[in-house]
Amino acid sequence: MSGGVFLETLAGRRFATPPIWLMRQAGRYLPEYRAVRATTRSFLDFCYTPDKAVEVTLQPVRRFGLDAAIIFSDILVVPDALGQKVWFEEGEGPRLEALTDPVQFGNLSRARLPDYLAPVYRAITAARAELPAATALLGFAGAPFTLACYMIEGSGSRDFARVKAWAYSHPDSFALLIDLLVESVVDHLSLQVDAGADALQLFDSWAGVLPEEQLFSWSLEPMVRIAHALRARHPKIPLIAFPRGVGPAALMYRRSDAFAALSIDTAIGAHWAAQELQPHICVQGNLDPLMLVAGGHALEREATRILNKLGHGSFVFNLGHGVVPQTPPAHVAQLVDIVRNWKPQGPQS
Ligand code: CP3
Repeated sequence: MSGGVFLETLAGRRFATPPIWLMRQAGRYLPEYRAVRATTRSFLDFCYTPDKAVEVTLQPVRRFGLDAAIIFSDILVVPDALGQKVWFEEGEGPRLEALTDPVQFGNLSRARLPDYLAPVYRAITAARAELPAATALLGFAGAPFTLACYMIEGSGSRDFARVKAWAYSHPDSFALLIDLLVESVVDHLSLQVDAGADALQLFDSWAGVLPEEQLFSWSLEPMVRIAHALRARHPKIPLIAFPRGVGPAALMYRRSDAFAALSIDTAIGAHWAAQELQPHICVQGNLDPLMLVAGGHALEREATRILNKLGHGSFVFNLGHGVVPQTPPAHVAQLVDIVRNWKPQGPQS
């Protein structure tokens, strides 16, 4: 395996400066992405066209020389593959024909997932072949709870009232949906590794809406089950967990038996993460994506503050959430420069 700074960091090695990649590094803030995006009307068709997916996966790596690429796809390809209707409303986001009744689970089937998502795996193989050896390729999936949120709410949500009503009032039937998603996500991640992914990330974007006990049952526990099932099939593959919005409950996720790294959002203090998480697990994060919009001195100060706190331990530089569309590309280049030219100044600085 050609390591590269990113994979070797996940394996426990330290370098003078940490590796950097950015969630949503491919996207609408890049004019070259918008040009390719404009050639396909449906977002899912775009995801399922390997040539186009490969091209936009490579774009940010070419432009900024990042240490990792993430395959261009979406977390909602899994419910789509299971047979739920999924589409994207222009300018609004994802829509699904919401599940309203446990009986409908019976209509979902993971049997066709490998064939249905074959274009994603073909894109991974082709992207891996085109990337420089030192640039890692990440595969990814949504964690079961976040997928269940979209499948039951039918879209994003302000209060997640439907998915919570279901999970709290009918935990047994909710558990069946989570089990189906655990198995489907294991299949999807495993096929991404077979196709050439070097590392994986699990996005639990809505974990933060759950109280602690339900967080354990519906977010952490399914993610750990996925990690252990993957380990059985692919003993060496590093898995990054991103339980967004969980605050100090991030302590529950510093499980080195399951995850190679823990990705933290902007609300977690870098100092706290250095003390409480980093001694146990590699930390990834956590610049505010809006700092990347601001650029200039504000970006330099904040990125340097994070580097001074976390750069002395096992660390991957990233954002606390995805790059937003209004980000000037020049600010991403500025950030990569800041990270690569950072000089360690002692842990207390
Ligand atoms: O560069 C990358 O990070 C790889 C590609 C990627 C996308 N989505 C492409 C995308 C990844 C890793 C995702 C993950 C994803 N998708 C998550 C988890 C991360 C997070 O943001 O919390 C979630 C919740 C989704 C679901 C989703 N897909 C939403 C809510 C939206 C609409 C929001 C928006 O920005 O429009 C999407 C669409 C989407 N997925 C876009 C991209 C680049 C924008 C659509 C377009 O270009 O037309």
